[in-house]
Parts: sequence; structure tokens; C-alpha cells
Amino acid sequence: MRRAVLFVCLGNICRSPTAQAVFQHKVKLRGLADRIVVDSAGTGDWHVGSPPDRRALAAARSRGYDMSDLRARQVSVRDFMHFDYILAMDNANLRDLESLRPVGYGGEVDLFLRYCKATGVLEVPDPYYGGESGFESVLDLIEDASEGLLERILDAQA
Ligand code: 4NP
Repeated sequence: MRRAVLFVCLGNICRSPTAQAVFQHKVKLRGLADRIVVDSAGTGDWHVGSPPDRRALAAARSRGYDMSDLRARQVSVRDFMHFDYILAMDNANLRDLESLRPVGYGGEVDLFLRYCKATGVLEVPDPYYGGESGFESVLDLIEDASEGLLERILDAQA
């Protein structure tokens, strides 16, 4: 069965494009690219049309993830028609998604880090106003949760 996953943060230039790139990489490695669609969006519109933050691009590139083609967009109510999993980076993003969520939406809206296996952290800290090390922690958390999410999707289809 085809599944679609949308990662959501505030600006769609740091955390959610990183989640999109990391998860997409894992999906491709497992040969599942034709079965699992991956995208990302922001709750805010300030950066619509922009590429990811250069610090996020550099940190991702150093771990082998290319996200230079990604461009920010804002999440909309239409996304609930297309995505089975809509996963927020922090609680503020989750609240914003819950307020957009149409009655009767049958998919899952939750914190992405619920899928972490190694760490008990639930929110991906916003790295925008911090230093480079924030982008490394974002990648650590996202790599961990991406494994858990892929297992969950595959288990649900088994
Ligand atoms: P993101 O990070 O939500 O991970 O993309 C941010 C990007 C931009 C802003 C805040 C957070 N901003 O305030 O412009």
C-alpha cells in the first residue's frame, strides 16, 4: 500500500526539510521510494520558496544528505487529504496542526520523536537562533526517529 508522510516545523527551512531528506534517504536505501511519499512544510509562511538554511544544508551534506533542491512551503488543510502521517517537530507545531485538522481525518498527527528508539526526547529543538551544534543534535534525533517511523510503517503494512 502507498503511504505518504509529511514532516512539519515552523519555517520549513531547518528541521522539517532535514527530516524529509533523512527519511527519504532511508526509504530509498530500502527500495521503497515508489511506496512511500515524503514531503515537508512549515506552519509559518515567512520562508516560502526559500531553500533550507545554509547551516542545515551544510550539516546534512556532511552526513550524506542532499537537500539543495528543497524549497519551503506552508502547510495547508489540503495536506490532510494527501498525507497519512503528519508529524510535528515540536508541541507548538503540533498545536497548529491540530487546529487545521479537518473533522474525520483518518491519518496520524503526532510528534515525530514519538518514533525515537534511542532517546526519550519528544521535541526537536529549534536550531534557528543557536549555533552549529544545534544542527548536529537535530540530525541525531531525526536519524533515530526515522528508523522507528520506517519500522512502524512497514509493520502496519505487514
Ligand atoms: P525551522 O526553524 O522551524 O526548523 O525551519 C526556523 C526557521 C525560521 C524561523 C524559526 C525557526 N524564523 O523565525 O524565521
